[in-house]
Amino acid sequence: MYKIILITGGSSGIGKAIGEYLTDKGYTVYGTSRDISKHPESKFRLLTLDVTNNDQINSCINQIINREGRIDVLINNAGVGITGPLEEIPEEEIHKHFKTNLYGPINMIKAVLPFMRKERNGLIINITSIAGYVGTPYRSIYSAGKAALDLISETLNMETKEFKINVVSIAPGEYLTNIPKGRFHSPLIEESPYKNSYKKGLEIMNKHIDSGADPKIIGRLVYKILNSKNPKKKYLSGSFIETLAPFLKFILPQRLFEYIVMKNY
Ligand SMILES: NC(=O)c1ccc[n+]([C@@H]2O[C@H](COP(=O)([O-])OP(=O)(O)OC[C@H]3O[C@@H](n4cnc5c(N)ncnc54)[C@H](OP(=O)(O)O)[C@@H]3O)[C@@H](O)[C@H]2O)c1
Repeated sequence: MYKIILITGGSSGIGKAIGEYLTDKGYTVYGTSRDISKHPESKFRLLTLDVTNNDQINSCINQIINREGRIDVLINNAGVGITGPLEEIPEEEIHKHFKTNLYGPINMIKAVLPFMRKERNGLIINITSIAGYVGTPYRSIYSAGKAALDLISETLNMETKEFKINVVSIAPGEYLTNIPKGRFHSPLIEESPYKNSYKKGLEIMNKHIDSGADPKIIGRLVYKILNSKNPKKKYLSGSFIETLAPFLKFILPQRLFEYIVMKNY
């Protein structure tokens, strides 16, 4: 039923792993990069796209429509990280972050929906994060963007049901990718009251990514979703404890849950 796939951010990490997995399974995959010249080795076709640029969004989608006549699946994967004490994250960095991680996926969805509605067929997968369900210190803005995208998925799925378009979210835990390199880190300010605990928090976050899982797992999960008659609305993909955390948050007394999170960060 689904053949033509568009993955935003197919040059690295999770997007690349999904693209390679689906290419091996015989799907026609289009990935994207802001600079395709840096990725001549890509196993699938890459188109130029910065999700913060609406002209590039339209051009990317039109190229696929002109070639294939339709887009069956949009995977909103492109994204970056941001860390820092909320009080010290510069406002322009917060705007920049939401432009990439929240408005970018929203504008991709808006651009692709007319074509999916015309076909009365489509699947939109938003890559969110377990950090969108469970907040940890110094990731407020990242968590807020992912939580918002998760709710966009939830509400949009009801709006597009009559057009036979499914919307699902995949919330990964920690995966070994290049995300720390592209992340905005608020600088460690010598006289900052947060300095010591933020420094420790940053070290722990980086350690978690370094011991993260293989992004191929997400490729397999997307393949399973593509072949499922009735996909779930939300998928969590991570270690046992990562996938348990959102449930514990609602079951355990709030103070105890916060204590456990703070003990680990
Ligand atoms: N790694 C994890 O543990 C983890 C956990 C939960 C959720 N996630 C989410 O998974 C997604 C993929 O991240 P990753 O871990 O695979 O990181 P990654 O290895 O750094 O890959 C990020 C991808 O996003 C693209 N990208 C970044 N900014 C973009 C922009 N403005 N416009 C278009 N593309 C852009 C990059 O492409 P170019 O640089 O080539 O343009 C790259 O392909 C993100 O949404 C991230 O938040 C990751």
